[in-house]
Amino acid sequence: MCGIVGYIGHRQAYDVLMKGLHRLEYRGYDSAGIALMKEDGKLNVYKSKGRVADLEAKVVGCDVGGSIGIAHTRWATHGEPCDRNAHPQVSQSGRIALVHNGTIENYAVLKAALAQRGYAFASDTDTEVLVQLVDYIQTVNGCSLMDAVKEALAQVEGAYAIAVVERGNPDTLIVARKSSPLVIGVGVGEIFIASDATPMVGYTDRVIYLKDNEVAEITRPSNLKIQSLESGKTSAPDIQTLRMSVEQLEKGGYETFMLKEIFEQPHTLRDCIRGRIADDGQRVVLSGVLENRDRFLQARRMIIVACGTSWHAGLIGKRIIQELCCLPVEVEYASEFRYGHPQITDKDIVVALSQSGETADTLAAIQLAKSKGAFVYGICNVVGASIPRNTDSGTYIHVGPEIGVASTKAFTGQVAVLALLALCVGQERGTVGRDTICCITRAMRQMPEIIQAVLGLDPVIRELSRTFTYARNFLYLGRGYNYPTALEGALKLKEISYIHAEGYPAAEMKHGPIALIDHEMPVVVIAPDDSLHDKVVNNIRQVKSRGGLVIALVTQGDASIREMADYCLEMPKVPECLTPIVASVPLQLLAYHIARIKGKDVDRPRNLAKSVTVE
Ligand code: AGP
Repeated sequence: MCGIVGYIGHRQAYDVLMKGLHRLEYRGYDSAGIALMKEDGKLNVYKSKGRVADLEAKVVGCDVGGSIGIAHTRWATHGEPCDRNAHPQVSQSGRIALVHNGTIENYAVLKAALAQRGYAFASDTDTEVLVQLVDYIQTVNGCSLMDAVKEALAQVEGAYAIAVVERGNPDTLIVARKSSPLVIGVGVGEIFIASDATPMVGYTDRVIYLKDNEVAEITRPSNLKIQSLESGKTSAPDIQTLRMSVEQLEKGGYETFMLKEIFEQPHTLRDCIRGRIADDGQRVVLSGVLENRDRFLQARRMIIVACGTSWHAGLIGKRIIQELCCLPVEVEYASEFRYGHPQITDKDIVVALSQSGETADTLAAIQLAKSKGAFVYGICNVVGASIPRNTDSGTYIHVGPEIGVASTKAFTGQVAVLALLALCVGQERGTVGRDTICCITRAMRQMPEIIQAVLGLDPVIRELSRTFTYARNFLYLGRGYNYPTALEGALKLKEISYIHAEGYPAAEMKHGPIALIDHEMPVVVIAPDDSLHDKVVNNIRQVKSRGGLVIALVTQGDASIREMADYCLEMPKVPECLTPIVASVPLQLLAYHIARIKGKDVDRPRNLAKSVTVE
């Protein structure tokens, strides 16, 4: 969702910015733009609806010189996707250019006030209001760009990460943030800025994560002045080392990022559990839990807050934690939690679950939980993102950059970390026995080989997918641990193939959805050999009696379901709480192949963004 890149240094800014925009494409967008300034202070701005490639095509033959610039990929919130609404937005005088990620809540009031002072607006965006405001303040006060930006931001309500340049001032770049991420990369005689660190990889590994309510004035060659927007105090830059390689950001021979990420799972699950299980398998070591042992011992309840796929992982986590920790767990959509008057006390542990660590609703839920005294634990993938920096403690899932918009390896990583969390908390609370710990940790260690075996189903699933491209609807059914797996399977299919799909607890089907079943309705049933297996067999029978087409995911050797189902995919047996990890992989492949056969862009599905940084 909206990506920002900026550069000031000794290179051609155009090359750095375009490469950066391509790296940010995974976030999802509908238009792109760039502003470049030459040494003589001339500002050139180019914008295009569509892909970054469309922008590149548009600037062929144009003047793209200059060693300072800002660029943007826009995900429309205010106004349709079109050239006029794309960023950079430029003030009426043509003097200030600004890119913005977030939303300005009070833009209508500010716009009306500026209009009264003679400002006309060329776009429908809230961003244009901000750039006009900066222009107005500078004109009236005759102040520096930095002071004008600070003054403008003092009048703004909402969320933003911004980068601003000024015509005639090729030595200065201003950035600021509130609730939307912004990273500064420090090179030798050059500075990079971006919404996340990916555009900097290969240029520098020294990064600063700008904090909320901070503004930075960047001047040549690489001077940085970071100031609090609230107190005005200047702070020393906290430079951290970025651990991300160019190879991690490339497709590595796969046709898409999503396929690469599905196939990476044996390896990402190994990374995820590395160093977290004692050699004898009898103990789980999560420093985030052990360093806050008392909070976990005194806890009366856990509340998991998350969105989308992460929410599905949270539902699985709920079952594992309830089973192993004897602690009540609630799972809430972060967007509902924040407005639901949640009754929270200091005996609650709120677990914020997020791949990106930047989801606006989840961040707001964290703030709310903290304000009510809860201990907030973050489970996140992106190192240094806003969620890990705003929680009391937490655990990274360590699955590496996930570029495909549809989450795959992050989901299995989240479930694995939630299982580790349950084991660790359960062992400390004395609610889980050694044998259970050993049984689950043994299976977790074998998970890379198990997932490798499941990936062996790929050619079969690819072939099977051809049969179902006609379908306009799919049902996904599962029970217990695999009801959330059904939800996740359905979400994957609809996200990337645009086929309508719904996940249901298998037994709920007879209370309504069974009316949909006919010989054209594919029904995917997740039916491992677990405590609810026989119940699910009955549910399959109900579907078959009504002519439904059943694709069943079963444990190897399950003859009873093989007899009934139209298609059977077999998975190795694992402890019940880990079955969602194993079962989600064939579902990812099924969604993937159906979408590819239908010719869809699976890495960048329409209307979707990788990190949802607006409400
Ligand atoms: C997953 O495939 C989706 N693209 C989406 O539901 C995602 O899981 C959701 O937006 C939450 O993102 P987060 O994990 O980064 O917080």
